[in-house]
Amino acid sequence: MKIAVDGPAGAGKSTIARLIAERLGLRYLDTGAMYRAITLEALRRGVDTNDEAALMRVATSVDLNISFQGSSGNLVYLDEEDVTELIRQPNVTAHVSAVSSHKKVREFIVALQEQIGKQGSIVMDGRDIGTVVMPDADWKFFLEATVEERARRRKIELEAQGVPVDLSELQEQIRQRDHRDSTRDNSPLRKAKDAILVDTTSLSISEVVHRLLSLIKEDSSDVQVFRCRH
Ligand code: CDP
Repeated sequence: MKIAVDGPAGAGKSTIARLIAERLGLRYLDTGAMYRAITLEALRRGVDTNDEAALMRVATSVDLNISFQGSSGNLVYLDEEDVTELIRQPNVTAHVSAVSSHKKVREFIVALQEQIGKQGSIVMDGRDIGTVVMPDADWKFFLEATVEERARRRKIELEAQGVPVDLSELQEQIRQRDHRDSTRDNSPLRKAKDAILVDTTSLSISEVVHRLLSLIKEDSSDVQVFRCRH
């Protein structure tokens, strides 16, 4: 079974996708972590994030690996260094949209994601999973929430990591990233026509997980196999 979870920053994709994977016993891939890892390496090497050729030299000269850790999500490695936490730094977040907007960078990363997808059942979260990476997914969900709520959630997350943030600044950063992600030429953030839209603004994590799992299970008990609900 293949499940795609897409949506903008802070809509709850990673947490929800990871919990669904855990409950269904599937692998989980946080595709944003791959763009973040390349961004971290580019920043370390002082590469201009507008220079596609230089970014491709970074992407092709570093060994990017993701391991599946069940309930604790993915661990991300660059040349065997664990960068799982480093890729969440505000500096990486500020540059990742620019890096991910380049066609060649996307082709390179999407090819890796397709390879991982082919290895068996999986839940992937990102921006273009239902539209580009797994257009044939059995289930496609598009999670949304207001900018205010998404910024509030991100603030709690960052503060838990010891990063103090200003709420209105965070809202502005999220708006800008949404804008860049949804207006770029190459596979922009958008809901696949056959994705199920879930507004998570007033829902808790467990309510969203419950809603998605009941849709999947209700359907599978009808027909005894997991099938598409498009
Ligand atoms: O967790 P958060 O929503 O902050 O972002 P993320 O999922 O880690 O993704 C970081 C960035 O990577 C996004 O803002 C996009 O620019 C890019 N991305 C993408 O272009 N395509 C994906 N499938 C996943 C992420």
